[in-house]
Amino acid sequence: MPARGAGGRTAPARRRAPHPGSNLPRLVSELNLILIGPPGAGKGTQAENLQADFGLPYIATGDMMRAKRQEDSELGREIARVIAAGELVPDDVVCKVLLERVDAEGDDGFLLDGFPRTERQADVLDQALERRGRKLTAVLLIEAADDVIIQRLAGRRVCSNGHVYHVDFNRPKHEGVCDIDGTKLVQRDDDKPETIEKRLAVYHDETEPLVARYEEAGLLRSFDGTRPPEEVHRHIRATLAVLRLEEDL
Ligand code: AP5
Repeated sequence: MPARGAGGRTAPARRRAPHPGSNLPRLVSELNLILIGPPGAGKGTQAENLQADFGLPYIATGDMMRAKRQEDSELGREIARVIAAGELVPDDVVCKVLLERVDAEGDDGFLLDGFPRTERQADVLDQALERRGRKLTAVLLIEAADDVIIQRLAGRRVCSNGHVYHVDFNRPKHEGVCDIDGTKLVQRDDDKPETIEKRLAVYHDETEPLVARYEEAGLLRSFDGTRPPEEVHRHIRATLAVLRLEEDL
């Protein structure tokens, strides 16, 4: 991610070809977005749609940590333990891999999912963006109450490439098989009831305070995650289209 001078973007807004299949006009300026919300609110589900709409690099720390836990190392084993317990991976570990990835892929904008999750992570991101003369465009909060989350996560199924389904709300065409890549659908090991409870508690203690922080900064946009997925998507897309137009004025 090259430096762009202090105090905001110095280069003119760059044009990017729309993602194939997107029916949005050939807009426009860099979008630096965060998806935030409780586990199971639908961040990953909406991220798939937003990637298609805006062609943004999708950077999900949950996916990155699940990849890291496969490593045959002490760190890999510790991350596996932490995820299975529903706890958070230490800030330093997550921040390092996140910033490396943003530097490698996020030059024209990014969509972060699952980061930041603590005040410390939010500070690190702010400082990194400021050093590079960049800023966040918006923080997209997807809201859902704990009882909805528990029902959702118990029925979630995922494929090995991270595509997400639900046994009732978002069924694949053929049971147990991913529509997109044909791989087997499985339950995540942190979607057990006791782990879900722990993840919710961690969200309320560690991550929810960031909502007020981003609201005060004027960056927060909230969406009702209990609406059907297509409706949530339409709402987010409309909000982002307006933000982009405003940035271009
Ligand atoms: P991560 O993978 O980020 O998990 P999470 O935040 O708990 O989020 P989820 O992926 O569980 O839910 P989601 O909001 O994406 O919902 P989804 O779209 O799948 O993190 C996993 C772990 O990694 C953490 O616990 C931690 O240990 C570690 N980690 C990650 N980032 C970290 C960080 N920054 N710092 C420290 N540790 C970190 O939807 C859920 C289900 O609902 C699906 O079945 C879906 O089909 C369905 N659904 C979605 N939308 C709707 C809707 N509108 N109506 C009905 N059903 C819906």
